[in-house]
Amino acid sequence: MNQALDLSFQCTLTELNKNISLSDKLDYIRSTLQERYPFIHRISVAIYDQKTGMLKSFLQSSDHHDPLSHYQARLSDSDSLMSIVYTNQGRVIHDLENFKETPKLHCQRILSLGYKSSVTLPMAMNCDLFGFIFYNSREKHVFKDEALHYIELVNHLLSLTVINELSSLRTLLAAIKTARHITNHRDCETGIHLDRMSQFSRLIAVELAEQYHFDEEFIEYIFMFSPLHDIGKIGIPDTILQKAGKLTPQEYEIMKTHTRKGREIIDNMLQNFGLDNLHQINMLRNIAEYHHEAINGSGYPDGLKGDEIPIESRIVAVADIFDALTSRRPYKHAWSNDDAFYMLESMAGDELDCDCVDALINNRDLVDRIQAEYCEDPYG
Ligand code: C2E
Ligand code: SIN
Ligand code: SIN
Ligand code: FE
Ligand code: FE
Repeated sequence: MNQALDLSFQCTLTELNKNISLSDKLDYIRSTLQERYPFIHRISVAIYDQKTGMLKSFLQSSDHHDPLSHYQARLSDSDSLMSIVYTNQGRVIHDLENFKETPKLHCQRILSLGYKSSVTLPMAMNCDLFGFIFYNSREKHVFKDEALHYIELVNHLLSLTVINELSSLRTLLAAIKTARHITNHRDCETGIHLDRMSQFSRLIAVELAEQYHFDEEFIEYIFMFSPLHDIGKIGIPDTILQKAGKLTPQEYEIMKTHTRKGREIIDNMLQNFGLDNLHQINMLRNIAEYHHEAINGSGYPDGLKGDEIPIESRIVAVADIFDALTSRRPYKHAWSNDDAFYMLESMAGDELDCDCVDALINNRDLVDRIQAEYCEDPYG
C-alpha cells in the first residue's frame, strides 16, 4: 500500500471509531473511496435476517439524492446472490443493461436509478452471513482490477464496522429476552404478540419515512427495539400482571412503574455489556420509558407533550395499543379491527400522534396481512 493510501486509511479508521451513526460512517467511506475512484457513485448495504431468511436494504450512500427505498426479498429467491454465498466470491456486473430483460428486482431498481455497473460482495464473519454490500457506478466497464482490489479492502473495513455494531446490538437484545424468560414472567405478551408489535411499528415507520426523513437504519432499529417496550414488566408482581380482572387504582399505580423500570433495566444491561455509547441506543431507552406518554400530556411517567415525546415512542404507542386492543388479555377480550381503528381515531390528536394513527389506518390491507401471518395459536 502506498503512503497516500495509508494516510487515507488512517483517517478512515479514526472516523469509524467515532460515535456517529452507521449512515454517517458509510457516507464517509463512500466519499473517501470516491476521491480515489470517482466513478464509485453509490454504496449500499443489505442485511440478512437469519430468522426470516429475508434480505433487507439497510444503509445507502450516494453522491446525489437517491429516493429512499425500502426493499425486502427472500435471499433464497435470488440465484445470483445465493451463488455469491456458496462460492464466497464477489460478483462484478460491467453492464447492468445486459440484465434489463431479467426480472431481477435488485437490478431493475439499480438501473432505474441510473446506475450502469455494480460490484456485489458478501458481508460475512466466521461463516455467518450478515448481508451484502453493493458498489454502483453510473458508468459501464469501470470496475477494473486495481479498483476491485481496493474495494475488497474497503469492503472488509465496512463489514467489520457494520457487523460490530449489529452483533453488539443482537447480543444485547438476546440478553434482554433471556432476562424476560428467567424472571419467569408470563404476560401473554410473548412471541407472536411481540412479532406483530414490531411489524406494526415497522409499517408505521416505513409509511412516515419520507415525511419524517427516516433512513433505513432508523426503521431497522424501530423493528428491533419495539418488542422490548414492556421489558419493565419483569419487575411487576404476577398478582398484578396476571390479574384476570380490572386493576384497582393502587395496582394500576404499581403497573405504571413498568416504564421507568424498563429504562433502568436497559441502562443496567448497556452498562454491563459496555454498550452505553452505542449509537441509536437512546431509541431503545425512549421506547421503554416513553411508550405510555400522551400527546396532550396526560400520559406517564413524565407527562411529556407533543414533540417532547420522541417519535419512536409515539410510533410504538400506536402499535402497542392497536395490538393490545385486538388481542385477548387476561383482563379483556379481543376487539375487532374496526372497533380498534375507531378507538385509535378517537384518540388521535389527544393521546396518540395523528400521523402514526393515519399510517396504520391507511394500510388496513397490510395490517390484515400481518395479523394473518402472525396469528395466535388457538390451542396455545
Ligand atoms: P398492555 O396490555 O400492553 O396494554 C397497553 C395499552 O393498550 C394500555 O396502556 C392501554 O392504553 C391500551 N389498552 C389495552 N387494553 C385496553 C382496553 O381494554 N381498553 C382501552 N381503552 N385501552 C386498552 P395502560 O392502560 O397504561 O396499561 C399498561 C399495562 O397495564 C397494560 O399493558 C396491562 O399489562 C396492564 N393493565 C392495564 N389495565 C389493566 C386491567 O384492567 N387489568 C389488568 N390485569 N392489567 C391491566
Ligand atoms: C437491494 O436493493 O437489493 C438492497 C441494496 C441496494 O439498495 O442496492
Ligand atoms: C437478484 O438476483 O435478484 C439480485 C441481483 C443483484 O444482486 O443485483
Ligand atoms: Fe407498556
Ligand atoms: Fe404492551
